[in-house]
Amino acid sequence: MNQIAEGLDIRPLEGRHAVVTGGSRGIGASAARLLARAGARVALVGRNEETLQAVAATLPGQEGGVVVIPVDLTAPDSAQWIMETAIGQLGRVDILVNAAGAENFTASHELTVKEADELWALNLRTPLLLGGRAAAHMASNGGGSIVNISSDIGSERSISHQSLYSATKGGVDAITRALAAEWGSDNVRVNAVRPAVTRTLMSAAIFTDPQMAKTLTAQYALGRLGEPEDIAEAVLYFASAASSFVTGQTLSVDGGWISTLVH
Ligand SMILES: NC(=O)c1ccc[n+]([C@@H]2O[C@H](COP(=O)([O-])OP(=O)(O)OC[C@H]3O[C@@H](n4cnc5c(N)ncnc54)[C@H](OP(=O)(O)O)[C@@H]3O)[C@@H](O)[C@H]2O)c1
Repeated sequence: MNQIAEGLDIRPLEGRHAVVTGGSRGIGASAARLLARAGARVALVGRNEETLQAVAATLPGQEGGVVVIPVDLTAPDSAQWIMETAIGQLGRVDILVNAAGAENFTASHELTVKEADELWALNLRTPLLLGGRAAAHMASNGGGSIVNISSDIGSERSISHQSLYSATKGGVDAITRALAAEWGSDNVRVNAVRPAVTRTLMSAAIFTDPQMAKTLTAQYALGRLGEPEDIAEAVLYFASAASSFVTGQTLSVDGGWISTLVH
């Protein structure tokens, strides 16, 4: 349940237009739903039009219809295409949520150039190029908010066999700060949310293994793993005027995993 949206009868994003990558499921879909409930009109980005349409059908509001943008984010021209399509369909973009991403568990000595290039293109090149283009557009309209989905892994902690994923997510934190510095004077804010283990397809292997889930849960001060709605709440905070004096920040939304040592 989304506490912010449930508890308020105001719609803090009324009249705002948001682009959400990774909008076909998981954290991106949950963020899109919450932004829509907060009043935003949303454009969903993912590879498969049918999957995007299925999520679109669950979004509240959306006068004028939900925009779906099927595109493979590893394609070189994807950032340009997304901005052109979103601006063409929505008129303007005020919020960008970079939620699309994937993991990689290949041992560092066995990584191929192909898999390294593909993951960097998806997890880091896209938030950078799309973020830059979105920021320039937002600046020309008086400002906006970009929210990147980073990760506790790579940003704060490292685990074995995740060197490539860690590199991309550490990079996401770096571009969050860099774009915040570049576009702050134009009233474009750039922040990142860092989930730990969150119940989505990406982490399905953990949630379907009771022993692993129990072991990990014991490391979380709040005694549970994450839900996509937990991350969506933080996205809404960064997307809305509630965070109007906050930029360049990375917020771990992780039940205390990073900051505590639970015995
Ligand atoms: N779940 C976790 O435990 C966790 C923890 C820390 C950080 N994160 C981060 O949270 C973000 C969202 O992950 P999630 O957990 O929601 O994962 P998910 O359920 O697997 O969703 C991944 C999303 O990325 C999209 N995507 C993947 N490859 C794409 C490509 N080449 N082009 C376009 N879209 C693509 C997928 O869309 P299609 O497949 O439909 O194209 C899907 O919407 C990621 O950046 C991830 O690194 C997740």
